[in-house]
Amino acid sequence: MGHCRIARFCANKPNTVIKSPASLLLAAVLAASALPLLAQQAAAPAPAAVTAPANTDVLPADPAGPSAATTGPAAVTQSPTAPAAVAPNAPKVADIAAGEARYAATCAACHGADGNSGAPANPKLAQQHPEYIVKQLQEFKSGKRPSPIMQGFAAQLTEADMKNIGAFLGKQKAKAGFAKDKELVQLGERIYRGGIMNRNIAACAGCHSPNGAGIPAQYPRLSGQHADYSASQLVSFRDGIRPNSPQMTQIASKLNDREIRAVSDYIAGLR
Ligand code: HEC
Ligand code: HEC
Repeated sequence: MGHCRIARFCANKPNTVIKSPASLLLAAVLAASALPLLAQQAAAPAPAAVTAPANTDVLPADPAGPSAATTGPAAVTQSPTAPAAVAPNAPKVADIAAGEARYAATCAACHGADGNSGAPANPKLAQQHPEYIVKQLQEFKSGKRPSPIMQGFAAQLTEADMKNIGAFLGKQKAKAGFAKDKELVQLGERIYRGGIMNRNIAACAGCHSPNGAGIPAQYPRLSGQHADYSASQLVSFRDGIRPNSPQMTQIASKLNDREIRAVSDYIAGLR
């Protein structure tokens, strides 16, 4: 690639082949193992919705309302199969304009007006899957994903706010980022695309897709994310500081610091 002057372009050529199909397969198996959970998740709210009379979804006096509201958040801390999103007063369609207004008032200062944060510690949120945004906000609020900074902001949001903000962010266009370290980025590319076979580390591409766009709704978009943020999350998963994803904890627990820096740098330039 002698004509290639900028590391990120060389490293991220779309024609790069995935080097380790076997470890991709491992990732696919891991991903598939989460599916029954998802199905359960989808099925769980059904009985509650069916028993609620059709004309009471906006009535706070409905007996299903208060009880669902009190059991919802508690259930979230115990089990990912009972998301608070099933609250009967949750809106059926997200209001993007309301989401934009809410976001502009509180969140834009740190995450950027269009979700393309400029500060390496504050994650880019533009073009992220709305369901993933909602999950994180619920878990900041409940404490399942501890964050001294985000817990307070998330605590002020209703379920409707979360859904609206997620819908707004999902529509924003992510700006591409840059890989910085030419040496490390190659190690990062190997890990991202092929995993590390002999240590049973699955390819990131298997769940987050080869171009880092993620796979809605469960697997978040990673491409273009600040390397500092991605690295901090991988360390947090590994060290149990972010315990909201057993899958990621398992993967990150096998990565050393150098590998974390490398794959995070590669992700920053991925497009
Ligand atoms: C003072 C700065 C600040 C403000 C204001 C702020 N955030 Fe954050 N946000 C952060 C930081 C820092 C993190 C990373 C937290 C961590 O390390 O886990 C974060 C993480 C997040 C994440 C997780 C992203 C991911 O990829 O997992 C979401 C979603 C989010 N914020 C949404 C919001 C929303 C919505 C608001 C407004 C209600 C908001 N933030 C306000 C600083 C801020
Ligand atoms: C088996 C599927 C799977 C594989 C393989 C996988 N991930 Fe993930 N990853 C996830 C899921 C699911 C989440 C979302 C966790 C949550 O809901 O909080 C995630 C979240 C993340 C996050 C946090 C994103 C954010 O915005 O905060 C990072 C960073 C990440 N993964 C990096 C990686 C890297 C690097 C690899 C490869 C070494 C990898 N992942 C492999 C499933 C996977």
